[in-house]
Amino acid sequence: MSVIKFIPSNHVIDAIVDMKLLVAARKNKIPIRFGCAACSCGICVITVSEPSALRPMTADEEALLRKLQVSVAGDVRLACQARMTGAVDATVDLSFLPDVVSNNDDDNAH
Ligand code: FES
Repeated sequence: MSVIKFIPSNHVIDAIVDMKLLVAARKNKIPIRFGCAACSCGICVITVSEPSALRPMTADEEALLRKLQVSVAGDVRLACQARMTGAVDATVDLSFLPDVVSNNDDDNAH
């Protein structure tokens, strides 16, 4: 069984195969930013130390990450979309892009 460490809180949980990071964090009472929980706001963006700890991103997740102008190489993910593989230990940084509020605001900014 692999583990996922959430920083900055330093909570460590057992990875549950196919459970989304957001769900795992909430179940374990780990403070985490989220909004829509449906791949539209971008508030839940995180970084992961080992991309193989998470299932590959969907086209929708990749599209939103591109809109946020962050990496789509697998090291940046949306907690509400990223599902654990249980394959390797990893650290998930919940403090990535603390200023992300909502990409929906960008749509109306121009
Ligand atoms: S909570 Fe909105 S994209 Fe994840």
